Amino acid sequence: MCGIVGYIGSKKAAPLLIEGLKRLEYRGYDSAGIAIIGNKQILTKKDIGKIEEIHKKINLIDLNGNLGIAHCRWATHGSVCRENAHPHSDCSGKIAIVHNGIIENYNELKDKLLAKGHKFRSETDTEVIAHLIEENYNGDIKGATLKALKEIDGAYALGIICSDEPDKLIAARNESPLIIGVGKGENCMASDVPAILKLTNNVVFLDDKELAVLTKDNFKVLGLDGKEIKKEITKIEWNAEQAEKSGFKHFMLKEIYEQPKAIEETINGKISNDDVVLKDIGLSNNEISKINRILIVACGTSWHAGLVGEFMLEELAKIPVEVEYASEFRYRDPIINKNDLVIAISQSGETADTLAALKEAKKKGAKILSICNVVGSSIARESYSVLYTHAGPEIGVASTKAFTSQLIILYLITIYFGKIKGIISKDQIKNRVRDLRKIPLQIQSVLEENKYIKLHSKYFYKKANALYLGRGINYPIALEGALKLKEVSYIHAEGYPAAEMKHGPIALIDKEMPVIVMATKDDRTYKKVLANIEEVKSRGGIVIAITSEGDKEIRKRVDHTIPIPQNSYILSPILAVVPLQLFAYHIADLRGCDVDKPRNLAKSCTVE
Ligand code: F6R
Repeated sequence: MCGIVGYIGSKKAAPLLIEGLKRLEYRGYDSAGIAIIGNKQILTKKDIGKIEEIHKKINLIDLNGNLGIAHCRWATHGSVCRENAHPHSDCSGKIAIVHNGIIENYNELKDKLLAKGHKFRSETDTEVIAHLIEENYNGDIKGATLKALKEIDGAYALGIICSDEPDKLIAARNESPLIIGVGKGENCMASDVPAILKLTNNVVFLDDKELAVLTKDNFKVLGLDGKEIKKEITKIEWNAEQAEKSGFKHFMLKEIYEQPKAIEETINGKISNDDVVLKDIGLSNNEISKINRILIVACGTSWHAGLVGEFMLEELAKIPVEVEYASEFRYRDPIINKNDLVIAISQSGETADTLAALKEAKKKGAKILSICNVVGSSIARESYSVLYTHAGPEIGVASTKAFTSQLIILYLITIYFGKIKGIISKDQIKNRVRDLRKIPLQIQSVLEENKYIKLHSKYFYKKANALYLGRGINYPIALEGALKLKEVSYIHAEGYPAAEMKHGPIALIDKEMPVIVMATKDDRTYKKVLANIEEVKSRGGIVIAITSEGDKEIRKRVDHTIPIPQNSYILSPILAVVPLQLFAYHIADLRGCDVDKPRNLAKSCTVE
């Protein structure tokens, strides 16, 4: 879960690499480094800390040269120290390498290389690759890398340079994301698109077990057998601006505010004449009619989206749904039947656990429909069909706009399946589509409450714990609210179905415990939720209720209210989650946390 970037061209490489690397910092930020070929020599700088801190200390951009690689690290093998930071090199210092992934047989390879006299400087699995290439090097870096890769088991996205061949940049991929940026008189490579957008919008997505040789004016992609593979160039529609903060203090806040626009983009092209049209669904009406069961696999916030999807699909399309943590799914020999559909949900499309679950389901003959945000990502490419959320780049580590866009796609799939199965009538579809069209403006009106939500946050930012309660379709929103708070503010928070509270968590309630309750009037269990609120209040807990606009009654019963507009019960989670995102954001900011780069986390978990 690191970020890598590489450049070859006529410009000074170091500033471009560091600029690109900053856009990958969401992938890892415990250390960073750069290697440039200047005067036929490899010049390296690296240290622990965030890129900006390191740059202030040792100036990362003053290295001269037009070819280089850079890396930001999220430690997997070896502690966080300068020696373990990338780039790593071989014994001669002529080869430098950056790596994202995990080499599974590195111990075995390291023993072999040590026996041959190689000297190691770090504890990383990556350094093994540099020595293995050195072992095979005979004046041809491409050939030596191909030989080395045949001995390696595991995941890698690699950038490699060699001072004896200062006109080549080598990139290679297996199970870790890697793209090539195709420019004019310059080429580059990176773990993710935002890193290269300042240079080019033309991108080639490398597939597993592919190696690319980049020169200033050309690029060539080969299989590990050395045979050339023709690749398509994809034009990326995002621009560098979209990947910037545009005046917001943090990406997380910017992305929360982008939700009305992101949702419009998600819906765009999927609704016509008050009907849902999913051209990219990739399933025939006959296949849809036969679906007996849906299995949703995902992780984290995307898993919460899956839980909301379960409610939608079971209630409106009458299809039984099971939602699985992707990380657990593949290890329990899941039963997959002929008429089951597997839906994989992933913002990044690179989450290793979700990708592995998808491959497992595929092996068992399942058809995979994925919901992804990143076009051309690994999960998208492994799937039978993809519905993209088109929410734009999500850089903040805490997922916000991707989540609400995923809910929109799940809602559209639900209506579409219900229509094909003859369960939802034309009139009902019309009404459901009308409800959906209200959402962007309704979110906008929640965003207008931001100041007020910030004020509420001031009462709670010093608390040590928080409890989130919801019922029915808003129970996953309680889970999501708790996850947002803990990941960005480091306050311990738990989400519970409100009625479960009396079976244990109620013991935690005292006057220090804020309890955030989803209590909108459209919720069928509204009255029951009011009873749950009484249970909290009578034990001294502080209640913050997410309520329906105009609900005056509830104000008398709770300490704080955050009103949201009313929509249908099925769409209520999309509105209810927005104040919880803002609440978590403000609390984290008031506590002085690094909101966009919370400790120990990385945006894209490309390791299992
Ligand atoms: C939480 C968060 C994570 C991700 C999870 C899956 O805010 O962002 O829980 O949702 O790591 O990531 P994707 O959706 O990229 O597969």
